[in-house]
Amino acid sequence: MAMETSIWHKIHEDAEKWIREAGALLKKAIAGPLDVQTKASPDDLVTNMDKEIERFFIERIRAAYPGHRIVSEEGYGDEVNADEGVIWLLDPIDGTMNFVHQKRHFAVSVGVYENGVGRVGLIYDVMADDLYHVVRGDGAYYNETRLELLDEGRLDTAVLSINGTWLNRNRRIDPEIVRTIARRARGTRSYGSAAIELAYVAAGRLDAYLTMRLAPWDYGAGLILIEEVGGVISHVDGRELNLLKGGSLLVGKKGVHREISQVIRQAIADGLYVEGQ
Ligand code: IPD
Ligand code: CA
Ligand code: CA
Repeated sequence: MAMETSIWHKIHEDAEKWIREAGALLKKAIAGPLDVQTKASPDDLVTNMDKEIERFFIERIRAAYPGHRIVSEEGYGDEVNADEGVIWLLDPIDGTMNFVHQKRHFAVSVGVYENGVGRVGLIYDVMADDLYHVVRGDGAYYNETRLELLDEGRLDTAVLSINGTWLNRNRRIDPEIVRTIARRARGTRSYGSAAIELAYVAAGRLDAYLTMRLAPWDYGAGLILIEEVGGVISHVDGRELNLLKGGSLLVGKKGVHREISQVIRQAIADGLYVEGQ
């Protein structure tokens, strides 16, 4: 049986308190020297603050909600293979490269799921002091303002968010397919934080966001916001996303999503794209 609605409001309240505290710590840290290291590649950055903020959340979640499990980027969370129970998807800093280089346009992202259903989501754009938040069924909000349901949309008047990686030669997709999609759209943007880009889709500032690779902590909160405003979520070819597995992601207004996923399905038929390469 689903839990009482009020537990989700309590979780929202706690998560908002912690996310604002984490934001204050990040603002303070940005003024001083950061310890920056690389992970899988020289461009894959991690700082002392990614780890500190992850531990900050995990301590608090474990103290307040001992039965809940946590999936998080820097490895202090739990090993989670199935979506039963309550799971927190946590990205302590989404947009670490922006955090290090631009000192803006990074976010803390927290999504809470019950048996695979998104219940509570918060994305905090720290330097803008903007909070995008949702309790499933109660509306999605940009700070105090309730977000409207997304309209149908169409690709030729759409502004898309696409990371430049996919427009150049890469190991996942023939860039010509992505260029075709970009050409058919009105314009493209790239903000360097998937969480912020997902929040922008929910807020109607972007008509769609697509990427060939994303992890559960990147989209945990964003998907709940987008679902609440009637956006469509899937892998780029329209197949259903497995929450804990990640992979490619296409989110957006219904009509825009349909047109983009059609282009990708044609590319698959032509042998130009294979999911999960
Ligand atoms: C990254 C950002 C980036 C996206 C990458 C993510 P991180 O997250 O969201 O915009 O393109 O795929 O890994 O590493 O800064 O938390
Ligand atoms: Ca991330
Ligand atoms: Ca991160």
